[in-house]
Amino acid sequence: MHAQYGGVVPELASRAHMQNIVPVVDAALKEAKCNIKDIDAIAFTQAPGLIGALLVGAQFAKSLSLALDKPLIAVHHMQAHVLANLIDDPKPEFPFLCLTVSGGHTQIVLCNSPTDLKVIGQTIDDAAGEAFDKTAKILGLPYPGGPLIDKYAKEGNAKAYKFPEPHIAGLDFSFSGLKTSILYFLQNAGTSTVFKETFTATEEERKTFIENNLADICASVQNRIVSILLNKLKKAAEQTGIKNICIAGGVSANSGLRNGVKAIGEKEGWNIFIPAFQYCTDNAAMIAITGYYKFLEKDFSDLSVKPSAKAEW
Ligand code: KG4
Ligand code: ZN
Repeated sequence: MHAQYGGVVPELASRAHMQNIVPVVDAALKEAKCNIKDIDAIAFTQAPGLIGALLVGAQFAKSLSLALDKPLIAVHHMQAHVLANLIDDPKPEFPFLCLTVSGGHTQIVLCNSPTDLKVIGQTIDDAAGEAFDKTAKILGLPYPGGPLIDKYAKEGNAKAYKFPEPHIAGLDFSFSGLKTSILYFLQNAGTSTVFKETFTATEEERKTFIENNLADICASVQNRIVSILLNKLKKAAEQTGIKNICIAGGVSANSGLRNGVKAIGEKEGWNIFIPAFQYCTDNAAMIAITGYYKFLEKDFSDLSVKPSAKAEW
């Protein structure tokens, strides 16, 4: 639905939520061989996200909670990404660190319990998923570009081109400089260093360069995004002394990151946890597992709870 526009169109997303929410809940209950009366509580995504879509979910959850007289549980999307690691066995022991990388967020989270989470590092500009998607856009690939870069990278040489690593203090990340350097690099059709700002290539030369070197460009970009992420994760593990390490969020579906975290984990003696592929990108199971842990603590919301596009942690 959104691919033809090169990104998510909020109004279309909101309408699609309205059209699909009843049949989707119905299908989920059938697949789980569950009756609506078996449900103990209704969890929903309260924040952050596109407000039009969040409103549909929140309104539906409130109505269901009222109709069934069951508790309502508001869930933070980023907490849910982290807790996706608690869906399957083996589960990480607390405390653990989670590198949460999605389309809108890049965070290192210190997790002391399912409900005691602290963000100890985050991006100061673009998210890692955005770096993938924006690179894909520059390369002329359709949205969302992350999975396509992953696919082409598998056939490329990750050392073909060297993109710069930003020097950001502490455990924070930055990806906007990388995006600019990729743009310059392509506008020079690979004929100069990535820093050169005078654009020497014609449109035709740029296109031909991309066509002939797509796999190597994707592999090199992915390699740099992954190394930025893993260098900070390593720093966080050293600073906290924590060796239970998880990854989460849409970008944790990336094969370069999955392999990279396993390799560094072996070297550093970490216990690595990676959610099953279907629990990496946005999914309802991660909202449900977070709802479960909040249910145990009776952390319920009343009907005045409002969804929010942005939410601080
Ligand atoms: O967590 P998510 O599904 O939605 C948000 O909360 O944003 O993450 C979506 C992001 C997108 O930027 C998408 O390109 C990226 O995750 N993504 C990937 C891969 N699969 C999804 N990035 C790189 N490689 C992948 N295999
Ligand atoms: Zn997400």
